[in-house]
Amino acid sequence: MSATILDGKALAAKVRAETTAKVAARTAAGKAPPGLATVLVGNDPASETYVRNKRKSSEEVGMVSFGYEMPAETSQEELLKLIAELNARPEVHGILVQVPLPKQIEAAAIQSAISPKKDVDCLHPENIGYLAQKGREPRFVSCTPAGIMRMLAEAGVKLSGANAVVLGRSNIVGMPIALLLIKADATVTVAHSRTQDLPAVCREADVLVAAVGKAEMVRGEWVKPGAVVIDVGVNRMEDASAKRGYRLVGDVAFAEASQVASAITPVPGGVGPMTIAMLLENTYHAAELAGGS
Ligand code: GUN
Repeated sequence: MSATILDGKALAAKVRAETTAKVAARTAAGKAPPGLATVLVGNDPASETYVRNKRKSSEEVGMVSFGYEMPAETSQEELLKLIAELNARPEVHGILVQVPLPKQIEAAAIQSAISPKKDVDCLHPENIGYLAQKGREPRFVSCTPAGIMRMLAEAGVKLSGANAVVLGRSNIVGMPIALLLIKADATVTVAHSRTQDLPAVCREADVLVAAVGKAEMVRGEWVKPGAVVIDVGVNRMEDASAKRGYRLVGDVAFAEASQVASAITPVPGGVGPMTIAMLLENTYHAAELAGGS
């Protein structure tokens, strides 16, 4: 079998076009354009690229981008001070602090300090709490998980009653995607570094979400024939023949898995572009929550 490739780039372009239209309608109604503040601490090359893309994309859909770059030695107090300022600025509707943060800064303290109404990453405990509880309407849905759910919906994947296995339990992907899959009535297993016989657990999955950050860890024989495979990993693999000296690979051995799965996301061009598209959706939503200003 050769799997259908789930094209995140094309779907992200469609979502961004929808957001562009909504932003244009908002500003035509005399309201302020949505404003997204991005905060980058230090100079991790991958984080720099991500933040640059987020800023560029927000401007492309008619939003205002406020970029803050702080040195790697920034103290937690200094960052908290900036967050307090951004919380108070009406033209900033969404705040995104790129993770990972340097060691001296506790990410949880920063994420708790962001106003829950501006928490477009959905990392504030109040917002993840909404996502976790039955009968609640979450204010925001975490960007990468929201993008995955949108891709699954677009591909017509039936989640109700399906066995879903999530590899990884991070605050930013593993945990929130597990919560969303539960909300969608899937039977969800969250597997991680201590899970016994990972290949056997994965082989039970009708929907397999890999978010562990280990290059090509999931092999073809881990995949149940006909499964839908969502690869969240973005790993740099040395490649002397590539212009930059490396190429990007996912957490899934794509060539092998695509022979077994019914559908699979590529890396790059799968989940990655959807993350930014959903961040823009969340920022628009944050601006609407704030009202006219
Ligand atoms: N680092 C990698 N992905 C993300 C993301 O979606 N948001 C933030 N804040 N940091 C990240």
